[in-house]
Amino acid sequence: MKYQQEIEKRRTFAIISHPDAGKTTLTEKFLLFGGAIQVAGAVKSNKIKKAATSDFMEIERQRGISVATSVMSFEYEGTLINLLDTPGHKDFAEDTFRTLTAVDSVILVVDSVNGVEEQTRRLMQVCRMRKTPVIVFINKLDRDGKNRFDLLEEIEKELSISLHPMTWPINQGKDFKGVYDLHNKSIRLFTANTKAIDEDTISISDLSSTVLNEKLGERDAATLREDVELIDGVYGELDVNDYLSGDVAPVFFGSAINNFGVKEMLDTFIRISPKPRDRETNKGLVKVDADKFSGFIFKIHANLDPKHRDRIAFLRVCSGRFERNKYFHHVRLDKDVRFSNPYSFLAREKNVVDDAYPGDVVGLFDTGNFKIGDTLTEGDEFFFTGIPSFSPEIFKEVVNKDPMKTKQLEKGLIQLTDEGVAQLFTQFGGNKKIIGCVGELQFEVIQYRLLHEYGASVIFNSVPFYKACWITSEDPKKLEDFIRFKSGNIAIDKDGHLVYLAQSEWFLNTERTNNPDVEFHFTSEIH
Ligand code: G4P
Repeated sequence: MKYQQEIEKRRTFAIISHPDAGKTTLTEKFLLFGGAIQVAGAVKSNKIKKAATSDFMEIERQRGISVATSVMSFEYEGTLINLLDTPGHKDFAEDTFRTLTAVDSVILVVDSVNGVEEQTRRLMQVCRMRKTPVIVFINKLDRDGKNRFDLLEEIEKELSISLHPMTWPINQGKDFKGVYDLHNKSIRLFTANTKAIDEDTISISDLSSTVLNEKLGERDAATLREDVELIDGVYGELDVNDYLSGDVAPVFFGSAINNFGVKEMLDTFIRISPKPRDRETNKGLVKVDADKFSGFIFKIHANLDPKHRDRIAFLRVCSGRFERNKYFHHVRLDKDVRFSNPYSFLAREKNVVDDAYPGDVVGLFDTGNFKIGDTLTEGDEFFFTGIPSFSPEIFKEVVNKDPMKTKQLEKGLIQLTDEGVAQLFTQFGGNKKIIGCVGELQFEVIQYRLLHEYGASVIFNSVPFYKACWITSEDPKKLEDFIRFKSGNIAIDKDGHLVYLAQSEWFLNTERTNNPDVEFHFTSEIH
């Protein structure tokens, strides 16, 4: 329990949203509160602009800039907050999924005008799978959005999570007057660009008070009373354990651009959000307060400049103390490694750190030793689980255009897939290589990087697959039969696991029905 104090004061989380819901704006307000930046607009360089969505080089360039914003650490009210950035662009959703393995909780931003959107659904699916505690921020109340009761119902239904309002909005759009804090029983009146000072707050010990009518007008005061009665009746007080178990998500309403409703959420966040917790490994739980160091790599960022081939591997510390220049055990490679220049990301600057504690993220220079999911320990032989791959959505066969460069191509494919840029499947019994990605842009990135970094020239041919399922069976004979009958659809992933590539939902369902002894898994994490 040597590091208990360090653990207690850390919170590691991510803000997630469908693009344009307000993630960057909210991040910026958090950093302002944390004193990590002084002026608004400082985080914008991190954002992939809409105009750039078809230009992958521009996206990569901006992703390059975003190394510094991959992790933003700041202190707020004595709490050390590590905010992990997630790319908003859907073609890089895998990056976001993996970042979610390194956080202890998330804040989900929902646009009050658009409600639940495609990315919101996908991201929340991952959070539910991992039982990650979620706080919801309903943004853009200064615009005419959906009816708030309808919106709550939509979020609950579409995201399969129970909500618990913590604040309640008084009107919206141009009539937006503020929020009522259901916990503190106070009203914060809306002013654009608030510094969140207490003068804007009115305490209401009794909702029937005439002060309410004076401040809000008869009609809005009456609506608020009705709403609050209804909400109190339905929800009562939040049980923090329901939030921590990922079953109930507290909800805040506000307007990020106006810095309104943000401080209430941040204050609640540091009060209720989980501190770093014990983590699952293949040999059981590793205690967060164990004396010995352990951690895992959840993200690798390559340098696009061919002259600087170094990569940065992002390590999440899970237990003990990480130290600069100390030898740690790289479990997969069975070798000891040490780092003379590990980074931390305090106040958005990269600084060399001497040590780090559970919840912290450290950037390590890597010359090709790491792949996503690798575990470092202080000598122990275990690895962290819960860092799965999901099925890609687009599959293409790699065609080598320059046979003289076959070796370079092999190396490039392995390194790029180690970085998690794409998944690689090798056809069973053959050597057809199939790349799986979430978005078309990734194929352009791979083609460009193979050529510029490895000198390998490739084109991609479409293949008619729509989903990859990892397959296992209790009965080796049944698995063998299935592989034989379906050999055209069987491949090996890069860790040597068997995968069934389905042409369509119909084929997948048919095979599942016809082969009850074969198990089809939708993530790679089965071994
Ligand atoms: P993202 O990171 O989730 O993609 O979203 P981001 O914060 O960049 O916000 C997307 C757009 O929504 C931005 O406008 C931003 O100013 C706006 N926005 C954020 N919060 C609010 C809010 O509370 N109310 C209103 N009305 N708008 C909000 P933009 O025009 O796309 O970008 P910019 O030109 O302002 O940078």
